[in-house]
Amino acid sequence: MTQPLHLGLLGAMPEEIGSDLSHLKNLSCSNHGDLAIHRGSWSDTVRLSLAWSGWGKVSAARAATRLLASDPSIDLLVFTGVAGAADPALRQWDVVLADAVVQHDMDARPLFPRFTLPALNKDRLQPQPAWFHWAKSALLEAHDAGELAGFAKPSNGLIATGDRFIGDPAVLQKLRDALPDLRAVEMEGAAVAQVAEQEGVPWLVLRVISDGADEAAAQSFEDFVRRYEQQAWRLIEALLKRCGDAPPQCG
Ligand code: ADE
Repeated sequence: MTQPLHLGLLGAMPEEIGSDLSHLKNLSCSNHGDLAIHRGSWSDTVRLSLAWSGWGKVSAARAATRLLASDPSIDLLVFTGVAGAADPALRQWDVVLADAVVQHDMDARPLFPRFTLPALNKDRLQPQPAWFHWAKSALLEAHDAGELAGFAKPSNGLIATGDRFIGDPAVLQKLRDALPDLRAVEMEGAAVAQVAEQEGVPWLVLRVISDGADEAAAQSFEDFVRRYEQQAWRLIEALLKRCGDAPPQCG
């Protein structure tokens, strides 16, 4: 019998996954300092290990490292939650699956070019194509089937991560100038991607737009997150339901 697929799921705040874990069976929890890792089964063929990391790159990297170390059977690490729009075409409830992530505050010039992560000697990190295409198809299929009512049609693109909540159009414009294809900004995804790459585990970053990273961003973010908590699980479920079509697991 094949092993169940084991998904590692992280969000910065409970509101970004939904704090009600009653859809999981055989729930257990382990505490690692102030990080709680919840484990459970979503179905006979899909297991989940999940945690709320807290905000920012250090907290996200720490949670990713702990989660992966807590169980070597994790097949895929997913970071999900909300993001600010960098692409002016994006609106609240738009879903963006990262086809690449970058740490916009990494700058080791003149030793490395701007944005390059010395540990990997790369600026942009890309998810494994098989997992990216699986998630993209799963989200589009769920959207077309009406399972994602309230969310807009999923799209993909570059997501930038940094230890800064962006609520200033001038700051956003500078980022857009440096990264012309930038679609969204957030504070954790590329840190988790870096850990996953270094640990040899496939990863995905999936975000929903909460604000325009402009003067109104803080208020939009707070209002949105309150509403989003009730909807977040449906987005995750769109992936869980389609794990039967997931790329073959190695190991
Ligand atoms: N997450 C959600 N909105 C954000 C913003 N405007 N800046 C950084 N991270 C965010």
